[in-house]
Amino acid sequence: MSSIRQVCLYLTRHCNLKCRYCQIVDNNKFDEIGTSATLEALRIIKKKIDPEFLILFGGEPFLRPDLQMIIDYTNKLDFNYTVITNGTIDRDIQNIKGITCSVDWIDPPIEKALADDVKKSIAGLETLFAFKKQGVPDVTGNMIIHKENYTRVETVVTTLSKFGIWTVLGVVHSGKGFTFRSDCEDLRLSRKEAKAVQSVLLKMCSDKKYLLHNVDAYLANIAVWGHYLDWRCWKQMSESEYLIIDSDGSLLACNDRFGRYTPQMSIFDFDELQYQENWLNDVQGCSGCFYNHIWQLLGSHKGEGLVHP
Ligand SMILES: C[S@@+](CC[C@H](N)C(=O)[O-])C[C@H]1O[C@@H](n2cnc3c(N)ncnc32)[C@H](O)[C@@H]1O
Ligand code: SF4
Repeated sequence: MSSIRQVCLYLTRHCNLKCRYCQIVDNNKFDEIGTSATLEALRIIKKKIDPEFLILFGGEPFLRPDLQMIIDYTNKLDFNYTVITNGTIDRDIQNIKGITCSVDWIDPPIEKALADDVKKSIAGLETLFAFKKQGVPDVTGNMIIHKENYTRVETVVTTLSKFGIWTVLGVVHSGKGFTFRSDCEDLRLSRKEAKAVQSVLLKMCSDKKYLLHNVDAYLANIAVWGHYLDWRCWKQMSESEYLIIDSDGSLLACNDRFGRYTPQMSIFDFDELQYQENWLNDVQGCSGCFYNHIWQLLGSHKGEGLVHP
């Protein structure tokens, strides 16, 4: 049996937007496996790992012309999954079982209206409502909390909850030399701001009317790790419960670093023992982050809080 509980598959690193805090996208640099290789990757994930949760990630997954085929095959393999999208691409994709859209704002300040991360929040909200109306079982808003929107956390969660939409909260990650976070120090929460967020979150997590996917441990520790970004996965776990597959099929040590050894293997020659050894070699020494998905998507989609910081 595999120790990996959650798999994240980058369907692409291309994107139609450029959010201020995101460095994933590079419009030409990254190879992308085609349709049959993507379906084969899904088959291998099911056969060798069979994770509790699968994230179809990007870049922007709705840019993939074969997204409908990917969704159909994901359904056929009976994954518990979500597709994370910026909600700006108007396409008729049927039979999605889980959708997550970025919603950093419900009421953005007018002077920020042209920023891509603000634009995608408006589109994301509309997309979530549309999928909810269609009866998609798992509809979630992903709010990235930062200096400009931290006072809006309760408004976002309350509004989404009212419509039966769940929220996943995460903090903005900033820093130089990473593959995920970009150099956006001006958006990073101060300790005081992170503390203010924490007190709101502690109130909300004990009240069932707020549909929050985060496990309580994440919310309770935002004041510390949300500011310092120095939580270290490798100090908590001797092996990874999370596998990330890049758009070319190679493995990543984590969203923030390719790693030296991990990318030498791909999903097509996946061997879990070797992956775990590579992962541990690559992540030791990392200065940390406060990454959300490992606690959030797994944690409450299954009703369990698992890895506590
Ligand atoms: C990389 S995007 C991919 C899916 C889609 N393009 C979107 O924006 O929702 C997945 C999530 O990562 C978040 N994200 C991007 N850069 C981030 C950063 N530096 N810190 C924290 N979250 C970030 C996005 O806001 C989004 O909610
Ligand atoms: S956060 Fe999503 S929408 Fe924004 S640039 Fe990154 S991949 Fe594109």
